[in-house]
Amino acid sequence: MPTDRPTIDLTRVVTLREFEAVAARTVEAAAFGYIAGGAWDEVSLAENEAAWLRYRLRPRVLVDVSRIDPSTTLLGTPAALPVAIAPMAFHGLAHADGESATARAAASAGIPFTLSTMSSRSIENVAEAAPQGARWFQLYTQADPGKTRALVERAAATGYSAIILTVDLPALGYRQRDRQNAFDVTVVPLGNFGEEGIRPTHIDPAPTLTWADLDEIRSWSSLPLVLKGIMTPEDGRLAAEHGADAIVVSNHGARQLDRVLAPVDVLEEVVEAVAGRSEVWVDGGVRRGLDIAIAIALGARGVLVGRPILWALAADGQAGVERALAILREEFEITLTLLGTPTPAAISRDHVARAVP
Ligand SMILES: Cc1cc2nc3c(=O)[nH]c(=O)nc-3n(C[C@H](O)[C@H](O)[C@H](O)COP(=O)(O)O)c2cc1C
Repeated sequence: MPTDRPTIDLTRVVTLREFEAVAARTVEAAAFGYIAGGAWDEVSLAENEAAWLRYRLRPRVLVDVSRIDPSTTLLGTPAALPVAIAPMAFHGLAHADGESATARAAASAGIPFTLSTMSSRSIENVAEAAPQGARWFQLYTQADPGKTRALVERAAATGYSAIILTVDLPALGYRQRDRQNAFDVTVVPLGNFGEEGIRPTHIDPAPTLTWADLDEIRSWSSLPLVLKGIMTPEDGRLAAEHGADAIVVSNHGARQLDRVLAPVDVLEEVVEAVAGRSEVWVDGGVRRGLDIAIAIALGARGVLVGRPILWALAADGQAGVERALAILREEFEITLTLLGTPTPAAISRDHVARAVP
């Protein structure tokens, strides 16, 4: 559980990365390792952030940039920025207000919030906390299909507007830090499973889930279906053929398989394979407004942001997440201005150069 919180002057935090050091002072060590960590040697964890730094922008000048509008739509949902909060388990590890605070901050910033199946607060609780905000539900299939269906139905009944099916967790990655810290995810309390909340069955991975199951999952609600965890053009093509409304090019924040490529480095080839049939989003290592512009130039509709949001939540609850999103917004607006692209739609492939080695 979080320890005593130092008072934080949020106006002095000016980058997303700075929130990590602030969070390190408030989050208990093993929980901190769970949030920060990746799988195995964390090769891909480092790569996820480093990869963004290798792309170079190609600014255009003498464009009227007196009116900047960073807003867009993601799956038809209006978003004040081409950004959504990535699904992350257990916000309660970062702050006692848990997902309710994060969802409220997302709503006040006008961007979608994704609730994990493995949340600290329940589907209903978060819907009540942020009734006006766009909310999506991330689905982990359960050993009992009836229980999976019940989760989808609860999300649909309480105003969540998309199902994000995570497809890269047939088993949990080799999470070295958690093993070293004896951090056991199966005993962290869960919001969505009532009395059974601490039973390990709910984080049973889904080794039997295949493409053949998508139709059934889709039939449980009328909500759009998003596949999160696509890393190859082959799977991008299959996702589009199976009618995915969107896909997230993602390596799960490098928490699953290590020594995979960084999502941004496979983004363009996946976009080509999908060929406009599904929206393509990307996550992993997004820390700067500049990254958002690069993602869009390479063909993404938007990005998801993970860890910095939990760090900001740990720093100061809802106000911390609001501050993180304000920083991201300001950085993205300045990027749009200096790139000569007043809106996300104005960004084209020509605005980014190849990655430098
Ligand atoms: C602490 C933590 C918990 C996560 N839990 C989930 C989850 O429950 N479901 C899921 O699909 N992805 C989960 N992810 C992955 C994120 O959705 C996202 O893909 C990743 O964090 C993006 O990378 P970033 O943290 O570098 O921004 C989790 C990530 C972290 C850091």
